[in-house]
Amino acid sequence: MENGKWKMENGVPNSTLHTPHSTLTILRPDDFHIHLREGALLRAVLPFTASVFSRAILMPNLSSPLVSVPHVQAYRNFVEEELALLNQKNFIPLFTLYLRHDTNLKELADGYKNNVFFAGKLYPSNITTNSALGFQDIASVYPVFEAMEKLDIPLLVHGETPDPDVDIFDRESVFIDKSLVPIRKRFPNLRITLEHITTSHAVDYVLSEYSPDKPLKTGATITPHHLHINRTDIFSGGLNPHYYCMPIAKREEHRKAVVQAAVSGLAPFFLGTDSAPHVRTRKESGFGSAGIFNAPSALALYAQIFDDEQKLHNLETFASRNGALFYGLPLSSDTLTLKKELTSEKTDDIKPILTEDMQELVQFISPKQVFWNGKWKMNYF
Ligand code: DOR
Ligand code: ZN
Repeated sequence: MENGKWKMENGVPNSTLHTPHSTLTILRPDDFHIHLREGALLRAVLPFTASVFSRAILMPNLSSPLVSVPHVQAYRNFVEEELALLNQKNFIPLFTLYLRHDTNLKELADGYKNNVFFAGKLYPSNITTNSALGFQDIASVYPVFEAMEKLDIPLLVHGETPDPDVDIFDRESVFIDKSLVPIRKRFPNLRITLEHITTSHAVDYVLSEYSPDKPLKTGATITPHHLHINRTDIFSGGLNPHYYCMPIAKREEHRKAVVQAAVSGLAPFFLGTDSAPHVRTRKESGFGSAGIFNAPSALALYAQIFDDEQKLHNLETFASRNGALFYGLPLSSDTLTLKKELTSEKTDDIKPILTEDMQELVQFISPKQVFWNGKWKMNYF
């Protein structure tokens, strides 16, 4: 299957918003950026990801961040036990080490060679959830990047400057200009993923590093929420805490640039939901937590954007191929069939998910009409 194998029951080759009863079959996708948390929260959210995605890269910003290999190993054991209970077929979690200026370089090398973790994740300090141990001065982490470049360990970056004087809407662009450009110059072979991009500046930067005849060293993940909302949506009809995340959604022109990057099918852009659950009481409060919980509907949300842009034929490339190729992983041999309904799902029907301790997780609800739905069918091979 070269591209998304898609079939329209009415025989119309390109989809429109109102094309009835269509299905789309793609290779089983990967989620290359997700927060699955621990304990009751993990048990509540894990089934949504494990039932759909072939693999997922799990982020290390737990309440006690995974700053050492034994920390990662303990988390790994915990997640694997939960997965065994779920009996989900063929889902592979991939783990990350929370990088610091004082990351132990021998541990880094041994942990990677022993497959304890798959990549290193870099957070600017205090920019988002559980990031207090992140960097303040990025040059202090250079020895770690040097070791990662030699070992070809992917560097996953939350690309926002930690400088509190920089306007929140400019933090991604400033990070790219002041930190990422120098890192790339100094470590030309380091594989870097710029996570959850939100600006045309990020799209332009990633494209400037891309050439089809050179090995790909710079990739970028794109979330469903940054494809669906702009910064005005956060305030539309009242402040919506469930649209609050880091990096914060930007102007409409930036959303459009990110949409064009996602649907382009170009190799550097791939799927990473950044689904980041926080219980309702943490979201709907003074100093509410940043993070959007989109896991139950992520694939449908992506499909709707590709459909609106008449680029459904590129969904498989974005969701199931580009990331795997960037990380040197095999493509899934399973396929998944998505379904489009005649009417958009009613927002009142999108209920919060309950944790075992009866806390609510409010799902992301798009301000747009979404006709694709979460009732997909998996075909195992
Ligand atoms: O909004 C966010 N929430 N952005 C992140 O980078 C982290 C995430 C979380 O862990 O809640
Ligand atoms: Zn994240």
